[in-house]
Amino acid sequence: MKITVKKGDALKQKSPCLVLGIFSGKLKSEQLTQLDQQVAGALNRAIRSKEFSGGKGEFLLLHGGSETVAERILLVGLGKEADFSLRALRQVTSSAAQYLAKKQLANFQLALAQVPLKKSSLAERVQTITEGVLLADYRYDRYLPKDQPGQSAAMDRVVLLISDGDDIAAAKGAVAAAEAITSGVCFARDLVNAPGNLKSPEYLAMQAVAMAEQSGIKAKLLDRRELERQGFGAMLGVAQGSEQRPYLIVLEYRGGDETTRPIALVGKGVTFDSGGISLKPSEKMDEMKMDMGGAAAVLGTMQAAAQLKLPINLVAVVPAVENMPSGTAIRPGDILTSLSGKTIEVLNTDAEGRLILADALTYVGRYQPRVVIDLATLTGACIIALGNQAAAVLGNHDGLIRKLLKAGEKSGERFWQLPLWKEYTDLIKSDFADVKNTGGRAAGTITAAAFLQAFADQYTWAHLDIAGMAWAEQGKAGQPKGGTGFGVRALIEYLRGEIN
Ligand code: BES
Ligand code: MN
Ligand code: ZN
Repeated sequence: MKITVKKGDALKQKSPCLVLGIFSGKLKSEQLTQLDQQVAGALNRAIRSKEFSGGKGEFLLLHGGSETVAERILLVGLGKEADFSLRALRQVTSSAAQYLAKKQLANFQLALAQVPLKKSSLAERVQTITEGVLLADYRYDRYLPKDQPGQSAAMDRVVLLISDGDDIAAAKGAVAAAEAITSGVCFARDLVNAPGNLKSPEYLAMQAVAMAEQSGIKAKLLDRRELERQGFGAMLGVAQGSEQRPYLIVLEYRGGDETTRPIALVGKGVTFDSGGISLKPSEKMDEMKMDMGGAAAVLGTMQAAAQLKLPINLVAVVPAVENMPSGTAIRPGDILTSLSGKTIEVLNTDAEGRLILADALTYVGRYQPRVVIDLATLTGACIIALGNQAAAVLGNHDGLIRKLLKAGEKSGERFWQLPLWKEYTDLIKSDFADVKNTGGRAAGTITAAAFLQAFADQYTWAHLDIAGMAWAEQGKAGQPKGGTGFGVRALIEYLRGEIN
């Protein structure tokens, strides 16, 4: 698909379809009067019959008469002007794009960047609109038959109209940024959607290496022998129940100064989480192929950062394992010695994410990172707390958490802070080892983070529990059912703020 930016009057553009946004109740303007004349009064008739009022989610498709320049006009309701936001703009763009794709309209023009939106720049609006279009074009259909009845068209050419006074270079830059970011999001979605029989830890490692090669990123894999040699006892403990070999994936992107310390991203890469000996119930166990959603977000962010040529240094660490029950699996009660030297009593083999992250967090300390952010589908408790609307953020540095909350709000990928008071740390004290891997049912997301904190005390660190966000049970415009790629947009927003 090709997205281009063009200056000009929306009603004077030749195209198969022009998309215009209208706020509810704002049905009188010079532009709409002109449009109504072009369509021989069809617009006012639709308004009078209450077919269209500008309410959020309303569509009105008008076929132009001889007077219109575009063959069709799609009016899109934006809802109340006071409630409008970048988030709403992204959503409306996705639903309009999806509506047209269903009608096999793959070429269209969007006049949405001119819609007034207070406290937003042209670049922000154009980036948001471009993201909305590109994310609506995503599907995971490689295992489906080619031609299905009712299938949407793949988008072909989309033109974003801007006003005559707008800065076209800024708009073009915003399109390029959105293309980089959404290609990272879609890469992450593909990884999450891949079924567990294809997606072994080795597959994840190979995908990461291939992406790194294409992006000018340095890649390194630590295989089982190397992990054993170095003492990744917690990660190897999880891996030992599976036939699939574990890998630690390490990527280094150098866009900044030689001497500046990197920002580190760590992603949970459990390619399938059966629970191990503490086996999960069978209902919805299929969804546990998404338990590498943190890894996917980290890999997608690395790809996007490289494509954006961000002038910063990044290191990504992904522990990739499969969690399976077998005769060689770890048992409840086992004690593992982690890479840090700390011992861990495993009370529940289904609390495997924190085990592999413990070693990954220790390992990443070798890079002297100025900041470490980990992303993980870590706890079911997080879904109980926040549902599918926000990821939890916890950490040992308020400034970092504040920056992440801001980046989350701006990118539309929301975070909500949970406390990490030291009283919670008492809940993971073990009678037989330094720590235990569960703190009971209460405050499950917090005690999981308290466990991680024990391995992240050397640096500024934040943890994002994305359990409720990595997988969409119900699809919507711009987000079909399945992997979401959640985290890429927010992380890139955060990283762009770290350029000095
Ligand atoms: N991967 C799961 C968490 C999860 C659950 C993610 C549902 C997405 C959807 C994690 O490994 C897990 O099993 N956590 C346990 C921890 C418990 C045993 C302390 C949980 O949340 O039940
Ligand atoms: Mn688990
Ligand atoms: Zn898990």
